[in-house]
Amino acid sequence: MRAALLRTIPGQLDIDEVAIGDPGPGEVLVHTTAAGLCHSDLHFMTGAYPYPTPTVLGHESAGVVEAVGPGVTYLQEGDHVISCLSVFCGRCEFCLSGRPSLCAKAGLTRDLTGPQRLSMPDGSACHQFLHVSSFAEHMLVHENALVKIRKDMPLDRAALIGCSVTTGLGAVFRTAQIPATSTVAVIGCGGVGLNVVQGAAIAGASRVIAVDMNETKLEFAKQFGATDVINASQTDAVSAVQQLTGGGVEYSFEAIGLKATAEQAWQMLGAGGTATVVGMIPVGQSVELNGFDFLAEKKIQGSNMGSNRFRFDMPRYVDLYMDGKLKLDELVSARIGLEDVNDGFEAMKTGEIARSVIVFD
Ligand SMILES: NC(=O)c1ccc[n+]([C@@H]2O[C@H](COP(=O)([O-])OP(=O)(O)OC[C@H]3O[C@@H](n4cnc5c(N)ncnc54)[C@H](O)[C@@H]3O)[C@@H](O)[C@H]2O)c1
Ligand SMILES: [Zn+2]
Ligand SMILES: [Zn+2]
Repeated sequence: MRAALLRTIPGQLDIDEVAIGDPGPGEVLVHTTAAGLCHSDLHFMTGAYPYPTPTVLGHESAGVVEAVGPGVTYLQEGDHVISCLSVFCGRCEFCLSGRPSLCAKAGLTRDLTGPQRLSMPDGSACHQFLHVSSFAEHMLVHENALVKIRKDMPLDRAALIGCSVTTGLGAVFRTAQIPATSTVAVIGCGGVGLNVVQGAAIAGASRVIAVDMNETKLEFAKQFGATDVINASQTDAVSAVQQLTGGGVEYSFEAIGLKATAEQAWQMLGAGGTATVVGMIPVGQSVELNGFDFLAEKKIQGSNMGSNRFRFDMPRYVDLYMDGKLKLDELVSARIGLEDVNDGFEAMKTGEIARSVIVFD
């Protein structure tokens, strides 16, 4: 099958042939219909996060089940599915305590002594990316990396629910659990940040202040429910938020992945506020907080894939979209072919677009 391979880090993606196995016990073969480009993929291309190569990137996707392996009863051929990298074992203490997005993930890959799900055509190793690898015509995944969805849901928009939507909405609904009428600031209005903005609006925030350096993104943010916007290339975001709210917000969200903006998220909180860091800060990078602020009972926390329980959450996000309560059409800036994937990441770097989605034939 054709796939987008990362061979060297840092590096671009090569479109090449990759071999894919038949579904083994507990595995499902999915025909990929659509796959979104997430900034997390880019972090692995630039080397901000390490990964063994060669690997097929991509993790935000939807498709149709083509075959199931022995023992799979949850899915059958023809089912429409969304993938999620938060594959869960259902047995570890995180799964059993209701936090499957933190699953220890034991036993969810193949035994390393035998043939793997993906390989190069000459039989050498090809590593599956985050249990998914969706920049490819097919995906061979553990059944617990998939959720079944209703068939009237368009699959190109369903793909976005696989990461950015779940990450953004989940950060608001599950990680931070903001009450209605909260005051909120969101730093970074890309595919993820726009979903934090719309999540906050859906949750009934009284104030949603969107921060970005790009005017186009701030226009998007207004469409997604921002009540105020701040262009951080022109003003100091922290003092602007403090001024707008008379001292700082109750909840801030960082959706970029930088030390400086994670620190801003902390600084723009009022007393008792909670900062949630969604962006992936490069490995080895520390974040500095003013210790005095702890007396103001400020809190800071991370959020992994929106602390999701995706088999429960994603079908509900699909319903919200189908009922006109969730914006997904507006998130898709471009539909591209697999061969355009590098251009898609270049467009992401300019900060002008919300999401590019690869659509397969
Ligand atoms: N925690 C998770 O589970 C999870 C899941 C998905 C993505 N992520 C991470 O979330 C982050 C955002 O992902 P994305 O796909 O939305 O990225 P993106 O590139 O689409 O969006 C980033 C946005 O930040 C803006 N920006 C950049 N620097 C800025 C600055 N200094 N001040 C204000 N705005 C600035 C850009 O203009 C852009 O709009 C990435 O780090 C990604 O890896 C985390
Ligand atoms: Zn992602
Ligand atoms: Zn588990």
